[in-house]
Amino acid sequence: MDRLVERISEKVSAAFAQAGYAAEYGDVSFSNRPDLCEFQCNGAMKAAKAARQAPIVIAQAVAERLQGESMFAQVDAAAPGFLNLKLAPEAYAEYLEQMRTAPRFGAWENPSPKKVVIDYGGPNVAKPLHIGHLRSAIIGESVKRIDRFCGDTVIGDIHLGDWGLQMGLIITETRARHPELPYFDPDFTGEYPAEPPFTLSELEEIYPAASAKSKVDEAFAAAAHDATFELQSGRRGYRALWQHIMNLSIADLKKNYANLDVSFDVWYGESDAQPYIAPMLEDLKAKGLATVSEDALVMEVAEEGDTKEMPPCILVKSDGATLYATSDLATMVQRMKDFQPDRILYVVDKRQSLHFEQVFRAARKSGIVPEQTELSFLGFGTMNGTDGKPFKTREGGVMRLETLISDITDFVHEKVRENQIVSEDETEATAKIIAMAALKYGDLQNQPGKDYIFDMGKFAAFEGNTGPYLLYTIVRIKSILSRYDGDPDVLPIQPPVGPEEKDLMLALSRFSDNLALAYRDNAPSTIAAYLYELSGAYNKFYHEVKILTEPDENRRAAYIALIRLTQRVLEQCIDLLGFSAPERM
Ligand code: ARG
Repeated sequence: MDRLVERISEKVSAAFAQAGYAAEYGDVSFSNRPDLCEFQCNGAMKAAKAARQAPIVIAQAVAERLQGESMFAQVDAAAPGFLNLKLAPEAYAEYLEQMRTAPRFGAWENPSPKKVVIDYGGPNVAKPLHIGHLRSAIIGESVKRIDRFCGDTVIGDIHLGDWGLQMGLIITETRARHPELPYFDPDFTGEYPAEPPFTLSELEEIYPAASAKSKVDEAFAAAAHDATFELQSGRRGYRALWQHIMNLSIADLKKNYANLDVSFDVWYGESDAQPYIAPMLEDLKAKGLATVSEDALVMEVAEEGDTKEMPPCILVKSDGATLYATSDLATMVQRMKDFQPDRILYVVDKRQSLHFEQVFRAARKSGIVPEQTELSFLGFGTMNGTDGKPFKTREGGVMRLETLISDITDFVHEKVRENQIVSEDETEATAKIIAMAALKYGDLQNQPGKDYIFDMGKFAAFEGNTGPYLLYTIVRIKSILSRYDGDPDVLPIQPPVGPEEKDLMLALSRFSDNLALAYRDNAPSTIAAYLYELSGAYNKFYHEVKILTEPDENRRAAYIALIRLTQRVLEQCIDLLGFSAPERM
């Protein structure tokens, strides 16, 4: 279904053509003077030069041809050459009725759908999930939902950090504690125990302990380094221990992400890219792209015209260890083979932008990723505390994601209980839903690249530009609809009578425009801003218009049809952002 502005542009373009000007001047946009009109066309100003006429003369000629056009209630030519357009009430009703009955509200769809891999989440196995991973999960999930809604085939890949030094640290610390375990006996040829030698909570204690030890104990650090290398070279006992770590940690991650309503299609990790590394390096060497420099294997990625320094990609260190870049390049080899995507999008902390620039260049130069496959990096900013510094616990440590979620849920729980609208046995579930909206909307209302301040009181407020406010709007509509004695879903949209009614319709009609922009820019923030705009339009309408007590039955039905559509669009938008609304709050 075409967008409303496209539909209007078509009429205005035809009028330009009839008046003897090029049709392309008839492009219409939303008005930036909503006090004067709802739509405007600035084409007469552009046409003036070629036509050697004053813009106002052209605007008048076009306006004249649009008089009597049933789509418009009013068409004015205004100095110096604007066309100010007001839509006829019937045109709103017609468009919204189509929207109401079309699948996915007839919104913009990608005309050539793509296959996209989105790399997001990126947690590190056996290390606690922290706030840095929260943003990737929230933004990535929303971008995935937006892309999918617009028709793309999207593969969400969590890309676990499951192959790094943390594994060597855990192995070494476990060895120090339990040297008798068969994992450490190089001569052991039997089957390793099916049960892990530690519980999840022990594992969570082992990593920080080992990490701290490695900072003060050089021998320990060296041993952890060696253990990592041996693991990566395939030492049997270490692989078995690694598998235990993976099983425990992944089960826990799945629970955490389910809690966040974030889901991945594939759970690949850096370890899955390992088999691709050796052949890839051979190929790069054979092509003369990877060269030995100071005992390390590197690939130059600097290009002529670079304005900033572009260090080479280090693929293998002098001690034989491969690096982050090696793993990301090999992952691209794997993704091209498994998925042949049209696009790979990375949702990662913007402080990693240099890394991705190097890796993208290496991928292009080597042909690992062909030109037709787009590589994009969506770098996000830091979540800061109210002191403007990176978010920390009260003790100054790194805040764990679970703690943050339970803190905000408790905070909301208290409010829900105070409000006394939700029955006691529902408060907990309701608080969880609202907390998720507070957390996710608090993040997504910002452009991804910006840093933002996490302010629980502000994010969880029921008024203002917050997630709970949006939910509250939806809940209020649900409450009205539940008191209407009829089926709201069979009622057609009718021409608006009052100004608030018309403004709400105008806001609804903009869903498609905003969706297209959000898709183009990978910007959930566009959907967030639209949600706030639409909620605002609804709330004005709600304050001005008596809905259920409207005596005229037909008018009442018109209001109900309109607010039901509003509810559906609002719910669609919050779903695109990754949260949902409760029944009551
Ligand atoms: N595990 C990494 C981290 O915690 C993020 C991974 C991002 N994705 C990637 N393909 N490098 O920083």
